[in-house]
Formats: sequence, structure tokens, C-alpha cells
Amino acid sequence: MVAILENPLRVGLQQERTTEPSIIVIFGASGDLTQRKLIPAIYKLKQENRLAPEMTIVGVARRDWSHDYFREHLRQGIEEFGDGIRNEDFWKGFAEGVFYCSGNMDEPESYEKLKQFLAELDGKRGTRGNRIFYLAVSPKFFKPALKQLGAAGMLADPMKQRIVIEKPFGKDLSSAQSLNRAVQKVCKEEQVYRIDHYLGKETVQNILVFRFGNAIFEPLWNRQFVDHVQITVAETVGVEERAGYYETSGAMRDMLQNHLMQLFAITAMEPPNSLDADSIRNEKNKVLQATHIADVNNLERAAIRAQYSEGWMKGKPVKGYRQEEGVNPDSTTPTFVALKMEIDNWRWKGVPFYLRTGKRMPKKVSEISIHFREVPLLIFQSAAQQASPNILSMRIQPNEGITLKFEAKMPGPDLRTRTVNMDFSYGSSFGMATADAYHRLLLDCMLGDQTLFTRADEVEAAWRIVMPVIDAWEAPSDPNLMPQYEAGTWQPPEAEFLINRDRRRWRRL
Ligand code: BG6
Repeated sequence: MVAILENPLRVGLQQERTTEPSIIVIFGASGDLTQRKLIPAIYKLKQENRLAPEMTIVGVARRDWSHDYFREHLRQGIEEFGDGIRNEDFWKGFAEGVFYCSGNMDEPESYEKLKQFLAELDGKRGTRGNRIFYLAVSPKFFKPALKQLGAAGMLADPMKQRIVIEKPFGKDLSSAQSLNRAVQKVCKEEQVYRIDHYLGKETVQNILVFRFGNAIFEPLWNRQFVDHVQITVAETVGVEERAGYYETSGAMRDMLQNHLMQLFAITAMEPPNSLDADSIRNEKNKVLQATHIADVNNLERAAIRAQYSEGWMKGKPVKGYRQEEGVNPDSTTPTFVALKMEIDNWRWKGVPFYLRTGKRMPKKVSEISIHFREVPLLIFQSAAQQASPNILSMRIQPNEGITLKFEAKMPGPDLRTRTVNMDFSYGSSFGMATADAYHRLLLDCMLGDQTLFTRADEVEAAWRIVMPVIDAWEAPSDPNLMPQYEAGTWQPPEAEFLINRDRRRWRRL
């Protein structure tokens, strides 16, 4: 199904990646993800001429919509969340390939009806039996959908049929294992695309290029030179309208087990033998297997949770988590998590990795910072305003880029030093905005490239790491003891202690 074609319209001999004809079947077609992310991304791919002209979209959901109603719904999505409709003829061409098929996720008849409809479309649109089934639905439907697709024989051909599974992939290790078994019953791993949209971010892919495309950084990337690593994903948003989901998930399951763990794996993994999907995923899995929470016998020293309380964001008062609609007033669901992790391998033994993520923080900022060891002898001690070890920070978002902090002599006759920055920014170097993660991930899936999707074993390995903490936090506890941080402020003091205890500090972002 994969085709790499050269597009003669492009300048130079650059190879463009263009997909083969296929039908993308989106389950959960009336939902937010479809309208906000999937369709704007597919529309943009079409504008960029990366899709085969036969590419077809079929939306599946319970509501009784017509094809035209669905098309209009998608159009609004492109207008509101994408780049807008700039050319009516182009939109018409796109809309001609969009269809709707109402159905119930757990009813066999719905799948038979869908199967027939897809076969008809193959005849009309020339899509040759190629299918991508995208499960943009609530996780409770993952298993029924897999079972029914399997029973209807719709995943039987690994060369032609793929399945995309959104997060969350399980709610703990055993449910992730059980979901993996359900997947393996109906298809092969090479057909499965588990989404972690952080892997679709340009800046995350650039970590691989930065590490393995340059000779000078990798020799320093180990216990001999690195003191510790910090990974932060801070968000300004609160729980929004997702309390129903978030109450059962919280920051650990919603962000840390997947997005931060992927950032961690890419930062800490060994060099892969090649760039193919399995070489990279083997290395990520290997490092995850070697990782554990720093102090499993004394968890409160290595894992902190907290909730935002009422506070101020951009000059406006905002509710605390427990006051949000749909949230239990005694909830102990964390909206902030900080962890200290360790890796038992030759490269990283003794180098702690501190991870933190939270909602309602003062800034939206995601960053990985490598904190190098101090110089062995501080001969400029008296000259330094403040002796600072070198820090390499990779800014995932916003203001995407990389900065290296180092000491420099201040101009003048006196020997005084100051920390300065060597800075790379995507904006000024490439003069273009980075694309949305779904744009890249959907294209890769259509091309059959699994590199940026998580494999069964790595998802389970990531769950295994966090399970001791999840188990401890799930035990009944006094809601009054749940640490709080005011909305619009950085973490609670408990998170400071976690790192200060090791004579280190969180980076100020
Ligand atoms: C999602 C989480 O996976 O990632 C959300 O469910 C979170 O709670 C979002 O807000 C963050 O993504 P991004 O790309 O905005 O950093």
C-alpha cells in the first residue's frame, strides 16, 4: 500500500511522500477530535497534494446524519480550527470524497452495512479495498469495535487494512495488556497505529536528529557528563468540559504515562541501528524496560500529586479543580504530577530524570532540559556572579527551539563571568510554523510508516513504570491531605521538596 512518488511539481529532486488510494473510516465522526484535528489535517494534506485523488473519507457515528450534513459539519471544522476554505472548487472536490454512514459501535449489523458501503465506494472511487479504520471514540468502544471489525473480516488483510487507536491506551497495565490481546486477536502489529500526538510534534522528532545527526552531543549524553534531566509539560488550561473523562484519568494517565514517557524515551534511548520503525521502537522499549520510579519503597520521596485550587489566570479569577462542573468536591484526581525516575543501564545509572506536568500553570510550555555536571574545579569562582552548570534545553512548545547555556567572560578589564545563551529557534532558522502533529501522523499512517506510533510492548512498559504510583494513589485517602496549588502558579511546595532534597532545583520556565 505504501508508495513513495516523486512529485515533479516540486522544486529540485526532493522526494515527496504521496499516499495510495484508500478509504479512511472515522469512528466517532461527530466528535470533537474529528472536527478539530483530523479533518483540518486531512484537508491540508490534500491541499499539499500529498493525497491520492481517490482518497475517501467515511464518517461513522450514531447520529442519523446525511452525507451533506456531515460535509457541512466538517467544513465548519476547517473554517474554525484549520486554515479555512480558500477555494470553493477545491472544497467541492474534497467534499465529493466525503461520506457518512450511521452505525452503532457494538452492533454487528452496523459493520455489515459499513462493509457493504465501503465495497460500493471501492467501485465508485477506485480505493482498491485499502482501508484505515480510525477509532476516534471513547476508549470503552475500542474493544467492541476491534471485535466487530474482526468478526466482519474487515481487518483480515494486513497489506490493505490498518487501524488507528487513539489514547488512552488502557487505564493501567492490566487493561492495556488486555486491549493489546484484543488487538492481536483480530490483526497483526504491523496494522496497528497507536496514537501519541506528542510524537507527531516536529520538535520531538528533532530530538532524534539533534542526538543522532550530530557528532558532538551524543558523546556527552550519559552519566559521565549529565547530572540530571528535567522534563516539563505545563499547561494553562484547566479540565475544560472533560471532567467526566478527567476524573477517571488525572495527570498521570492523561499526560505522564504517555506524552512525557515518550519524551523521556526519545531523550534517553540508545542510538537505533536505522530509522526504521522497529529499530526506533526497540530502543525506546529497551530504555523503558530499564526504568523505574526512584524510590519505590518510599514513594512520597519520588512521586508528588496535587490539584489546582481557585486562583487567577491572565487577570481573571478561575475555579479550583474541585469546583469545576462534573468534578467530585472530594476528588483526589491529580491535575499535577511530578516524578523522579531512574534508569538501570550503563549510560544513565545514577542520573535522575525528573518529570512534571500540570494544568492551570502560569504558562503553556513544554521543555526537556539536560543539566550537565559542574566543572571539576571552579577556578573562576570569585569571578562568577553565580556559578551555573551548562544546561541544554529543548523547547518542545511554544517558541520551539534549542538553547545551550554556558559561561562567558563579561567584557571589561575585570575577570567576571556570566551565563549566556546559544540559541536556535525554528521560527528564525526555517521561517515557517511547525505543522500540527495530526498532519504528520495521519500522513505517516496512510503511508504505512509506524515510526511515530507506539508499539504494544512500549505502551505496556510505560504503564509498568507508573503502576506502583497509581496503585498507591488509588488506595483510599483523606481528600483533605491532597496537596493544592493555586491556579496560575507553578507547582506545590511538595514538588519543590522532591527535587530540592537532591540539592537541585526545577528550572524556571
Ligand atoms: C491531550 C490531553 O492528550 O494532550 C489533554 O488529553 C492535554 O489533557 C493535551 O491538554 C495537550 O496537548 P498539547 O499538544 O496541547 O500539548
